[in-house]
Amino acid sequence: MQTATSFEPGAPTRSGTIPLSVPEIRGNEAKYLSECVSSGWVSSVGPFVDRFEQQVANYIGARCAVAMVNGTSALHIALLLAGVKPDDEVLVSDLTFIAPANAIRYANAWPVFIGARRDDWQIDANIVRGFLENECVAKSSALFNKRTNHRIGAIIAVHILGHPADLDALSETARLFGIPLIEDCAEAIGAEYKNRRVGTFGLCSTFSFNGNKVITCGGGGMLVTNDDTLADRAKYLSTQAKDDPLEYVHENIGYNYRLTNLQAAMGCAQLEQLDDFLAIKADVARRYREGLADVPGVSLMPVAPWAKSIFWLNTILIDEAVFGRSSRELLRELEAQRIQSRPLWQPMHLSAAHRGAQSVSCDISEQLYNQALSLPSSVGLPAGDQQRVIEIIRHAAR
Ligand SMILES: Cc1ncc(COP(=O)(O)O)c(C=O)c1O
Repeated sequence: MQTATSFEPGAPTRSGTIPLSVPEIRGNEAKYLSECVSSGWVSSVGPFVDRFEQQVANYIGARCAVAMVNGTSALHIALLLAGVKPDDEVLVSDLTFIAPANAIRYANAWPVFIGARRDDWQIDANIVRGFLENECVAKSSALFNKRTNHRIGAIIAVHILGHPADLDALSETARLFGIPLIEDCAEAIGAEYKNRRVGTFGLCSTFSFNGNKVITCGGGGMLVTNDDTLADRAKYLSTQAKDDPLEYVHENIGYNYRLTNLQAAMGCAQLEQLDDFLAIKADVARRYREGLADVPGVSLMPVAPWAKSIFWLNTILIDEAVFGRSSRELLRELEAQRIQSRPLWQPMHLSAAHRGAQSVSCDISEQLYNQALSLPSSVGLPAGDQQRVIEIIRHAAR
C-alpha cells in the first residue's frame, strides 16, 4: 500500500522541502466551508455548486459549466456528449497525463495517440490533419480509420503544462472533417490562445481542480460548453440519468459524478484568487527564465507566439551532451537536496495500459519525455527557495 508523502499533491509542505506544486489556501476557503457546515449543505447539491458553475462559466467566457467530481469524469461525459460510441477511435495527445486516454476506454472507445510539436510540446495539428486526410476514409457521412475500420469519434486536444495547443488549426481540421473537438484544460485554466481563454474552441472542454492544479477543490472537475442542450445532458448523465425525480425512473445508464457543495465552496474561494495566482506564476516563470538563461544545455519549454501560458509546471529540457548530466540525474540531485522535480508523463504510445493502440509520429514526444524535467512551481514558492533550485541546477552543469 502506498502511504502519503510530503510531496503528495495537497499534502502540507514539510519545512526544508520544496514541493513541485501544492495548493495555496489563503482566501475565503474556511469561511465558505464553515457556511456549508452550518447550513447543512454538505452534499452533492447546494448554493456553492450553482455559484461555482456560474463563476467558472463566466471566467472562461462560456454559456454553461457543469460541475463534476473530477477532471477525468468530466472527460468521460464530454466523450459521451460528443457521441463517441463503443469501438470508435478518438485522436488524443500522446504526451499527456493518462486521464484522457483512460476516459476514452471508459467510453469503450480506442485512443489513437498523436505526437507532439517540438515548438510548444502540444499535440501537432498537422499530424492530426495528415492522419485524417491520408489514413482515413469517408463513408456514409462519417470518417473511418482505413487500418482498423473504426469510426473516428472525436479529437481530444490536451493543453499540457499550462500552454494552449494550436486551437485555430485543430478546430479548422475538426470542422473540415466533421469531428467534435474536446479541449482538456485540466492544466491550463486561464491560459489564452490569441487573447482568448481556452475552453470554448470546441464542442466542450474539461477542467480539473485536483490538488496539484493552480486552483483546487481538494478534488473536482468541470465540463464547460456554449451549448445549453449539451450542458443539460451533462448534468443528467452525471447525476445518474434520473428521468423522474420522484419515481426514480431511469431510461439511461448514468453516473454519480457530482461535485459536493463542500468541494464547490473550496472552488469558489480558490477561483476568487485565480488572477492573483496567475500573476504570481508568471513571476515564477520569469525568474526561472532569467536564472537559467545562460546555463549550457538547459532550455525552458518554449511558448508559441500566439500563446499566453499559465506555466502550470515550469519545465526544462536537458541536453545531456552539453549539460553533462541527464534529466534523471538532475532529478536525483535535486531530490538529495529535498527538492521535488518530475519527468513528464511516459508518452501514451509507450504505456502498457494502452498497449496495442495506434500511434502517429510520436518520436518528438519520446525525446521530450527523455529530456524534460518539471521544476517546483507552486503559487506559494518563496523567491528564496526558487533561487536555491536555480543555484543547484547551475552548479549541476558540468
Ligand atoms: C491533462 C489532464 N487531464 C485530466 C486530468 C484529470 O483530472 P482529475 O485528476 O481531476 O481527474 C489531469 C490531472 O489530474 C490532467 O493533468
